[in-house]
Amino acid sequence: MSTVLPCEKMHRSFYVLVLLILSVSACKLERVESNCDLSPGLYELSNFPIGMAVDLNFLDFDLEYERLLNQQFNQITPENIFKPSYLQPSEGQFFFNDADRLVAYSESRNKMLHGHTLLWHKQLPQWMEDFQGSKSEWENILKTHIQTIVAHFKGKVRAWDVVNEAFDEDGSLRESIWKKNIGIGYIEKAFEYAHAADPDALLFLNDYNLSISPQKRKALLSMVEDFQRRGVPIHGIGLQMHINIAFPSDPEIGACLQEVAKSGLVLHLSEVDIAVNPYSRDIDFNSNLAQRQAKKMAFLVRAFQSLPKHQQYGISFWGLSDLDSWIPSYFGRKDYPLLFDRNYSAKPMYCQLKVLLPE
Ligand code: XIL
Repeated sequence: MSTVLPCEKMHRSFYVLVLLILSVSACKLERVESNCDLSPGLYELSNFPIGMAVDLNFLDFDLEYERLLNQQFNQITPENIFKPSYLQPSEGQFFFNDADRLVAYSESRNKMLHGHTLLWHKQLPQWMEDFQGSKSEWENILKTHIQTIVAHFKGKVRAWDVVNEAFDEDGSLRESIWKKNIGIGYIEKAFEYAHAADPDALLFLNDYNLSISPQKRKALLSMVEDFQRRGVPIHGIGLQMHINIAFPSDPEIGACLQEVAKSGLVLHLSEVDIAVNPYSRDIDFNSNLAQRQAKKMAFLVRAFQSLPKHQQYGISFWGLSDLDSWIPSYFGRKDYPLLFDRNYSAKPMYCQLKVLLPE
């Protein structure tokens, strides 16, 4: 027969209590459903815009894609067709047909358009990459490109990613054709030209890895501060969120958002996708990955919601579903980073987002 001492009893009840607390909190984080209702759409529940990158090839041919886009999102970012190689394929020849179709679609469905992107070091037309000329000739190219495009879409595009991915990880300015040929002043020129062409458009710097590259973040923020001091028109910072279920950590993302918010500008969680297979294994999606993805989503939304309301420009996903995501084709691997699966069924992270949005 064993005798139970009073302190042993206390220990036992303490452990029971701990177990109870753990299981209650586990319940809270517990399985997120994947069969939640699609209606009302995400944007209807949200007090900031919810966007997605749109690919015209899907929009033109896939009725279910169109239906979900229309039902769930109120902001559209053109995934590719506003980039320089599409809009100015040869010097001085602008091609607006596809872009205008997307604008007409957005207008007819009452969706806001986020212009992506005026300047980038990728997806440049060949003639621009090959151009040889003086600094003032390069400035002319920059000015013509920006002003023609922004003026064309004046009043139709709410905001522009004026410069995309301007910084390297170590905080230096990336050696893009603009930096090489015009110097560091190209960025403020770009903002000034864009502002002159449409004074009502919101102008953004958009970049990636801001949560995990402190030097890059610092460089971007000191440029923003310098612009604000000198009256260069800048209104927003886009934080590309091509993240995965493990990385960056929640504290890294949270601290980054808080720091970037100190700029006082509006913040865009742009290009959100949450990869589950960064090491390119031959894996299928499973419920464990789905739950971890939903948890990351929850953190992201809560971190965004904790920002001052007037700085919440919106959250935009980089695509609709695992079928149209850029990740599998661009990186040549299986992955499942978006809100809907390849059959357009809502994934747990969709349902998770949905319960957290009405706040
Ligand atoms: C990607 C598109 O999704 C792909 O279709 C294209 O082949 C390459 O560009 N950061 C950006 C986006 O700012 O413009 C990129 O989009 C993804 C990374």
